[in-house]
Amino acid sequence: MSKTQFGEQGWTPERLGDLQGSTFVITGTTSGTGYEAAKILLSKGSKVVMLNRNPQKSEETTAQLKQVLGNNIDVSNIQMDLSEQASVKTAANAVLKEVPRIDALICNAAIAQVPKQTLTVDGYESQLGVNHYGNFLLQALLYPRIEESKGRIVTVGSMGYDMGIKTIQFDDMNWDKNYNPNSVYSQSKLAQMMTAYELQDRLSKVGKTSVKSYVCHPGASRTSLIKTSGSLMMRFIWQIMKLTPMVQSAEKGAYPMLMCATEADLDQSGFYGPTGKNYWTGPVGECKLEPHAKDKSVMQKLWDISEKQTGVKWRL
Ligand SMILES: NC(=O)c1ccc[n+]([C@@H]2O[C@H](COP(=O)([O-])OP(=O)(O)OC[C@H]3O[C@@H](n4cnc5c(N)ncnc54)[C@H](OP(=O)(O)O)[C@@H]3O)[C@@H](O)[C@H]2O)c1
Repeated sequence: MSKTQFGEQGWTPERLGDLQGSTFVITGTTSGTGYEAAKILLSKGSKVVMLNRNPQKSEETTAQLKQVLGNNIDVSNIQMDLSEQASVKTAANAVLKEVPRIDALICNAAIAQVPKQTLTVDGYESQLGVNHYGNFLLQALLYPRIEESKGRIVTVGSMGYDMGIKTIQFDDMNWDKNYNPNSVYSQSKLAQMMTAYELQDRLSKVGKTSVKSYVCHPGASRTSLIKTSGSLMMRFIWQIMKLTPMVQSAEKGAYPMLMCATEADLDQSGFYGPTGKNYWTGPVGECKLEPHAKDKSVMQKLWDISEKQTGVKWRL
């Protein structure tokens, strides 16, 4: 029996057809899995709109992509910093003005393992602010275009959802009392995933079956994640781990989000990523999801708080 629904090799980009005429909006393409995902989508002829925080890095990324794929690729950047709600609003407005169609919004950008409690300009603990509130706002603002396009939202989660406290610390969401880099990262990724599953329920309740919301994770991939925001110790540990076969290439880490962005008839209720040991590497397919990720009362409460905090109401 094959290991995944896509056979022993799992899902690979060989399943992608010609993507000409499609548009993918993807956050965080200056490195890691986001860069690899953008490269593969562009290589199949799709248009890619990158939402990156650093214009200089974004220009370098564009130059690199053109060097690899040629000057004819259709790639552009709209500057957006997920840590600032004003920046997300400006970027979303620009997308709505300039991008007539969104086949998939791929929410890939994140920070991880921030060593000390840091607040965003809007006053949120930084990992929750960037990874959850930033994405929540972006998705809500772009939803009308995604709906018009009968498109998808792809949330890049993490196996970290199954670490830490495995719920949302509603009585102290900024972790003023017990800040811990790992648990706070885990909470932020769980929050992103819960939002995606709650969105599915809300879409189904209003009968909007043409929009899909998918959740995946990249396993353990060789990227800049810990280097960008982690402590010295975490960076050291991760640098060593990256040299072992326990960690896979950033390119392979991009496969789950590409699958969720493009594969027809993929069951939304699943959780997708590498299916090998600990779900760190291996053929891409469906991974087991622990029930706390779909704790309905937590999902609903988080959604309500997130609408309040971001000041945006989803118009479903
Ligand atoms: N690598 C892993 O093993 C692993 C495991 C589990 C989950 N993940 C998830 O995989 C996704 C991709 O991460 P990665 O591993 O590829 O990390 P990465 O190489 O560090 O890439 C992260 C991307 O996010 C961008 N970003 C960070 N903060 C941002 C902000 N405030 N606004 C806009 N963009 C921002 C970064 O931009 P800059 O270049 O400007 O920093 C970069 O382009 C994340 O959602 C992460 O949680 C990764």
